Amino acid sequence: MRNKITVVGGGNVGASCAVNLAYKELGDVVLVDVVEGVPQGKGLDMLQMGPVEGYDVRITGANDYEPTANSDVVVITAGLARKPGMSRDDLLMANHQVVKSVTEQVVKYSPNCFLVLVTNPLDAMCWTAFQTSSFPKNRVMGMAGVLDSARFRTFIAQELDVSVENVTAVVMGGHGDTMVPIVRLSNVSGIPLTELIEPAKLAAIVDRTRNGGAEIVKYLKTGSAYYAPSASAVEMVESILKDKKKVLPCAAYLEGEYGIQGLFVGVPVKLGANGIEKIYQFQLTDEEKGMLAKSAASVEELVSILKTKG
Ligand SMILES: NC(=O)c1ccc[n+]([C@@H]2O[C@H](COP(=O)([O-])OP(=O)(O)OC[C@H]3O[C@@H](n4cnc5c(N)ncnc54)[C@H](O)[C@@H]3O)[C@@H](O)[C@H]2O)c1
Repeated sequence: MRNKITVVGGGNVGASCAVNLAYKELGDVVLVDVVEGVPQGKGLDMLQMGPVEGYDVRITGANDYEPTANSDVVVITAGLARKPGMSRDDLLMANHQVVKSVTEQVVKYSPNCFLVLVTNPLDAMCWTAFQTSSFPKNRVMGMAGVLDSARFRTFIAQELDVSVENVTAVVMGGHGDTMVPIVRLSNVSGIPLTELIEPAKLAAIVDRTRNGGAEIVKYLKTGSAYYAPSASAVEMVESILKDKKKVLPCAAYLEGEYGIQGLFVGVPVKLGANGIEKIYQFQLTDEEKGMLAKSAASVEELVSILKTKG
């Protein structure tokens, strides 16, 4: 039996996810979007790439959720981009409504699936999906840390002129400018980063990582990054479906870990056939604890708006 993966939102991130899933032959893919014809057209186009690339998966597009029935994993990328005149809170409420309605439909047809959230503001949207689905916490997670640490690893490898494969970077916290790169534990084949890069340069790399998304938006002008984000979401899906048990930084529902209660925040987790199989807790320095608490507070601010207005 092949696995079945649904990707909701057939825009830049969603379509790119579908292509990556097909390349890796992780399962049959259903692409869902509200815009009529777009998921069907993109799906057919991707299907026709199969003979060239040599993948044997079915890729279909839909505007409704019946074809998504019994999906093993559902990746949610549906959402609106911020429009001129729209406040951060307006965007929060708009995407909350999108994620809420998408989750209701997804859950109706795939009550046993794993939910991987991508829509921003990421940590708050995980909370929306968690509340709406009533799924256990091992089945709801968000993609941000894999991307943030990939960006960090890229810049470190570039700086040292070494393979990206040798760079391990630990990033925690919420997605966005309050993310917490744990420089102390990042290394190149076991050699601490702090021994390889001088502090000022390292601080500049951390800063560039924090603003990694904005740097790309500035170039693109309309739209935001999607190649690395979609590959990051697919790494999570792969770890679940192949039970690889990769330890990845993901947004997970915390119940007291790191002193954080009832929020989704990025922490290292083990991803396997049971979704989030373990949340790793380790000793942070006081400075790191402070940064993580600040990051969690910014997630809490958004969630409290959802609790009152949503
Ligand atoms: N977590 C991360 O690290 C990360 C990285 C990149 C992008 N993102 C976020 O991912 C989301 C998607 O980004 P994108 O670049 O693909 O945007 P996009 O505008 O290209 O695509 C979004 C798609 O969602 C669809 N959509 C809107 N409402 C829908 C609904 N109710 N049901 C189904 N589909 C619906 C739209 O029609 C559109 O095709 C954004 O919220 C973006 O901020 C997150």
